[in-house]
Amino acid sequence: MRHEVRVPISSDADLVPARAEGRALARELGFSQTDATLIATAISEIARNIVVHARSGELVMTGIQQPHRYGLVIVASDAGPGIPEIDTALERGHTSRRSLGLGLPGARRLMDEFEVETDAAKGTTVTMTKWRARDELERLRARRRERA
Ligand SMILES: Nc1ncnc2c1ncn2[C@@H]1O[C@H](COP(=O)(O)OP(=O)(O)OP(=O)(O)O)[C@@H](O)[C@H]1O
Ligand SMILES: [Mg+2]
Repeated sequence: MRHEVRVPISSDADLVPARAEGRALARELGFSQTDATLIATAISEIARNIVVHARSGELVMTGIQQPHRYGLVIVASDAGPGIPEIDTALERGHTSRRSLGLGLPGARRLMDEFEVETDAAKGTTVTMTKWRARDELERLRARRRERA
């Protein structure tokens, strides 16, 4: 399994590899097709926010393995203007442009964990994680492989 995938974001064209890498990593971690699509959608929204609101930044996606679960962590960072009112921005329909304001709340709903760190001087970092439980059989197979 690849452990870290980095995708620079500076235009709409970069959303294509961002989605594709996110989807591929999700599948490698054993997420269902449906979950992989939800993860790709969250990635799109967060990457699009970088392009629209901060111009450029990057995504780092990491697969993690714990005894009882797998996780896909996506860290999206930029050095843009920051989000002035983050609590309001996380509510549906709050936008600085004439848009729908669905990106942040939508992505948050699709993922299991969602954190935003934002600062006018430093920019914005969104960290979001999706978990998948490892079942008994998978744990057994992993233990066998370790012993082999
Ligand atoms: N990376 C970012 N840097 C600076 N501001 C951001 C960033 N991401 C989001 N924002 C701010 O948070 C607001 C809400 O973001 P959200 O994605 O929910 O809506 P939107 O991008 O305005 O509209 P939509 O995503 O529905 O097209 C944005 O209008 C913008 O002001
Ligand atoms: Mg948006």
